[in-house]
Amino acid sequence: MVKICCIGAGYVGGPTMAVIALKCPKVQVSVVDISTPRITAWNSEHLPIYEPGLDDVVKQCRGKNLFFSNDVEKLVAEADIVFVSVNTPTKTQGLGAGKAADLTYWESAARMIADVSKSDKIVVEKSTVPVKTAEAIERILTHNNKGINFQILSNPEFLAEGTAIQDLFNPDRVLIGGRETPGGQKAIATLRDVYAHWVPVEKIICTNLWSAELSKLAANAFLAQRISSVNAMSALCEATGADVTQVSHAVGKDTRIGPKFLNASVGFGGSCFQKDILNLVYICECHGLAEVANYWKQVIKINDYQKTRFVNRIVSSMFNTVSGKKIAILGFAFKKDTGDTRETPAIDVCKGLIGDKAKISIYDPQVQEEQITRDLSLKKFDWDHPAHLQPMNPTSVKEVTCVRDAYEATKGAHGICILTEWDAFKSLDYQKIFDGMEKPAFVFDGRNVVDAEKLRKIGFIVYAIGKPLDAWLKDMPAVA
Ligand code: UDX
Ligand code: UDX
Ligand code: ADP
Repeated sequence: MVKICCIGAGYVGGPTMAVIALKCPKVQVSVVDISTPRITAWNSEHLPIYEPGLDDVVKQCRGKNLFFSNDVEKLVAEADIVFVSVNTPTKTQGLGAGKAADLTYWESAARMIADVSKSDKIVVEKSTVPVKTAEAIERILTHNNKGINFQILSNPEFLAEGTAIQDLFNPDRVLIGGRETPGGQKAIATLRDVYAHWVPVEKIICTNLWSAELSKLAANAFLAQRISSVNAMSALCEATGADVTQVSHAVGKDTRIGPKFLNASVGFGGSCFQKDILNLVYICECHGLAEVANYWKQVIKINDYQKTRFVNRIVSSMFNTVSGKKIAILGFAFKKDTGDTRETPAIDVCKGLIGDKAKISIYDPQVQEEQITRDLSLKKFDWDHPAHLQPMNPTSVKEVTCVRDAYEATKGAHGICILTEWDAFKSLDYQKIFDGMEKPAFVFDGRNVVDAEKLRKIGFIVYAIGKPLDAWLKDMPAVA
């Protein structure tokens, strides 16, 4: 029986291992983590992450061939294949601060593997790491030479949160990179056999180590670039009277471009896009490729511009001041169907409004108050450290309240910002909401989810990203 152990029981490690366990009943899968609360939650009725379909998969396998444990060293020592899926934050100080990946957790995991191993192992990179990390890790592993053979593979994860289980069940592709030596090829074949339990072999792509590592950064950069491209167009649409949804539709019909990932929004968030692009930029700079670095930097600049533009639009349309005004925030997660708030655009929008002295009231169906308070108090790039997964008592931000439903959030508010595209926000009773608000009542739809015309008929002034502006908004232009 092949034994797999995954270091890091997070958004990637947890769902990925659960699906491997489900699809390979003869493989024993352990997921280990240094965080005790995380492992306790994985072993409880309330999993630490909200992901549609995940509960079902975990329930079917947990205790049979899927185990969650804090006994990191023992389970790593016993495993044939060790996946590493630990945090890779952006460095906050020293060389490459604000750009380069901080590989502290990766390095400590690699040293631990080297220390505890007594048998040959395949070590698999699952976290996104800079290109050529595999080589560095290989050095750590082989330096501790006890006659043990380590083969390092890069097997980047392409799942998106909110659809993780579907993405894992039916991936567009599985990518495995390894050394072009007989040992490397054998390791690739072993991991390929695991995936081949449910993924058609033609979808399993095998490459060299560096191509696999770079493909992950490239895929995320391309996806983020599509969003920044459509968001840049959204600003031009507002200025010219074009409708970004119509433009996206027309552009996406070209099969060379395709229709997906062309939704204009208040900006992209999530743990990967910004971090991976910063990483890519840093790598390009290190190789003297300044033009390439600048090209990718622009994707992040447009994303920041889009969030600033949104806040400016709110302030300018409310007579250039939101001081003392109540603004309801509907949705805090970085996208629907997840409780994850890492790099969510809601953080920057809320901070912008708080900076202008607004009072904000936040409702998200899956995000707890403690999380929101923590997010609004953390410094940029500080979110991706295991310490932040431990319970802590952040001091609350006095201008912010978190409430348990959309009606409470909007009661007595001057304006509503929709920042996550939760389906439930489409079918709220907007007449009831309007009746309970200060007038003029504003809706700023950062995800283009509401029926703007219907809301205008009720009496709202509506701003929707990249759509022709109401006369009111035209008269009060936002300065970006
Ligand atoms: C383009 C558009 O494709 C077409 O829809 C529009 O109506 C006119 O402009 P065209 O310029 O004729 O068409 O050719 P196209 O196939 O788009 O190629 C443009 C350039 O891009 C060529 O120099 C081509 O060699 C280059 N190219 C294209 C690449 O370098 N790589 C590619 O993957 C594709
Ligand atoms: C992403 C990649 O999609 C996935 O392949 C990779 O493994 C991890 O990073 P994730 O961040 O979980 O996944 O979600 P994704 O669906 O890519 O959304 C990222 C952000 O872009 C969200 O904030 C989302 O709202 C935004 N987005 C997405 C848009 O603003 N417009 C779109 O058209 C699509
Ligand atoms: P991702 O989205 O990439 O899965 P997460 O932050 O959700 O990222 O998960 C990473 C997990 O890795 C965290 O639960 C963290 O506690 C764990 N972790 C970090 N370093 C180590 C380590 N050295 N040993 C075990 N677990 C670790």
